[in-house]
Amino acid sequence: MTTETPKTVKLADGNEMPLVGFGTYLINTQELMDTSIKTAFDAGYRLFDTAQLYRNEDLLGQSLVNLQIPRNQIFITSKVAEISQGYDHTIESVDDTLQRLKTNYLDLLLVHWPVRKFFFDTWRAMEKLKADGKVKSIGVSNYSVSQLELLKTKATEMPVVNQVECHPFLNQRPLVKFDKENDILTQAWSPLGRGITLDNEMLKKMADHHDVSVAQLILKWHLQNGLAVIPKSKTASRIVENHQLDFDLSEDECGMIDLLNRNERTGNDPELVYELGKQYKMFHGPQSESSVLGK
Ligand SMILES: NC(=O)c1ccc[n+]([C@@H]2O[C@H](COP(=O)([O-])OP(=O)(O)OC[C@H]3O[C@@H](n4cnc5c(N)ncnc54)[C@H](OP(=O)(O)O)[C@@H]3O)[C@@H](O)[C@H]2O)c1
Repeated sequence: MTTETPKTVKLADGNEMPLVGFGTYLINTQELMDTSIKTAFDAGYRLFDTAQLYRNEDLLGQSLVNLQIPRNQIFITSKVAEISQGYDHTIESVDDTLQRLKTNYLDLLLVHWPVRKFFFDTWRAMEKLKADGKVKSIGVSNYSVSQLELLKTKATEMPVVNQVECHPFLNQRPLVKFDKENDILTQAWSPLGRGITLDNEMLKKMADHHDVSVAQLILKWHLQNGLAVIPKSKTASRIVENHQLDFDLSEDECGMIDLLNRNERTGNDPELVYELGKQYKMFHGPQSESSVLGK
């Protein structure tokens, strides 16, 4: 018998967050945003993930108006870019974000990447934005265990979400364990490894056995490991498929997928971004946020 997949998770601050969200990185025209959001909403997605860096907050905001999707039916996440960090800048930048998204609150605001120079000031601004009601939940992205430990030394409240690169080739088990022990939900970005995981023969066999796609198999593995996911696709059939996850993997199957880990990143190394204060260009691997946006 298949157990029904829970649709939401209660965060440490009491707010509910959908477990499967829709990533909007690289969805960069109004037409594509409208069709993608419509397909995703009709398929059951209620969480939409954007960022100041993606330069598409305005497109997402406009799609929600165009499609007449009531604000209270959806969960919007955005992220403070490196260039917007620091106490005053963070607050100003979120006012812009709210305007672009045509809303007066965010469900979740994340610090996009840790930056040494503004590490505590940015977090203080996040706490203030929450206290002012401009954001319901605050979290981080790309933070390591040691950065979370450091944050704990001065934070009034800790992040409730840590959004990190996570897929079968980079399963982040120590970080996921730390997050769990500290009431922080790990949300996987590039949950499919931007496609690099999809040709794996073992995963293909396992997916065939369940009569699902490799993408569905991987997303279900994340959920059974207690993570939330935000797959992105520009393709209608894939958007729909990525939300259809009502099947179960055995513990053995999950364990076999865990063995594929090889600590392979498709995106920037957070420790380097922390020191450099910005994302750097990737000279290999698929599209990184920095390479596409020319940062
Ligand atoms: N916090 C951060 O630093 C950070 C960094 C990167 C990304 N993110 C967020 O995470 C989201 C997802 O990450 P991502 O876009 O990098 O990678 P991803 O979701 O792992 O992979 C996206 C790629 O997989 C393909 N794909 C999706 N579903 C598929 C399916 N069912 N079958 C076959 N191929 C499929 C997509 O192709 P098509 O689009 O051509 O269909 C696209 O090329 C982003 O959109 C963004 O919101 C956050």
